[in-house]
Amino acid sequence: MIRKAIIPAAGYGTRTLPITKVLPKEMLPICGRPALDYIVEEAIRSGIEQILIVVSRSKNMILDYYDRSVELETYLEEKDKKHLLKEISLPNVHIQYVRQSYARGLGEAILLGKQFVGNEPFAVMLPDEIILSNEKQPLKQLIDMFTEVKGNIVGVKKMDPSQLKNYGVIQPKRLKNAQFQIKDIVEKPQISPPSDLAVIGRYVFNPAIFAYLENVKPDVGGEIQLTDAIKAMAKDNTSYGLEIEGKCFDIARMSEYIKLINYIWDSKEG
Ligand code: UTP
Repeated sequence: MIRKAIIPAAGYGTRTLPITKVLPKEMLPICGRPALDYIVEEAIRSGIEQILIVVSRSKNMILDYYDRSVELETYLEEKDKKHLLKEISLPNVHIQYVRQSYARGLGEAILLGKQFVGNEPFAVMLPDEIILSNEKQPLKQLIDMFTEVKGNIVGVKKMDPSQLKNYGVIQPKRLKNAQFQIKDIVEKPQISPPSDLAVIGRYVFNPAIFAYLENVKPDVGGEIQLTDAIKAMAKDNTSYGLEIEGKCFDIARMSEYIKLINYIWDSKEG
């Protein structure tokens, strides 16, 4: 059973400037709710009981969002707006935080969750990838495969070849249906991607990943890349890919952010 999830949210959001100078990318509004809230909901609906959000100095808005506002509650009660209280009710999950003092990469953000995770398998969910599925929740799809194979599971999606240079891309060996063994992984391949299966921000890891992450050397930009740890684990034949069923939207790309809003709005109207 997977009970814990880490949500890294300490990055600078440089692709989404200038708004991310003041508004964390994770709090970008999607039909009145912050992006992060869709991820928290997916976590809860996948059976997650405890969430660690990795934040940084400029992300206090995230802590405020998941805290009570007694002042606002009192106001709504006094002004006969009690029906709105449900709009500000808190999600039914334990949320805690750790601060990353400088954005030294996704790998380092996950390493900060070592204490929180302890000695059990756990999930990692990137809040800038919103995945909507009418079937099983995206993370639950990974958790179910983990229960079957017990190895690390990386969510992947078939991508248009022109997009692969923006993602981690796996070299897969097909096992069955949507399941693959990961033979290798390449971060942002500029030429000859090893497949069209891109990593899309949902993972289930064994705690053994921390030993791999601790051995990752910073890249040329000084960042600890999660991909390097997955690459090392792939060599030890312990990692799998699962093609996630659902529609994926990378909200760091304006065109997809707008598509997502329209998609949710249309499904509400319809
Ligand atoms: P991204 O690379 O997509 O986010 O990382 P970013 O760095 O904020 O944005 P760009 O690339 O500059 O536009 C994926 C997730 O990992 C978190 C980010 O907050 C985002 O949610 N992250 C990234 C961290 O928590 N720490 C890091 O050091 C890097």
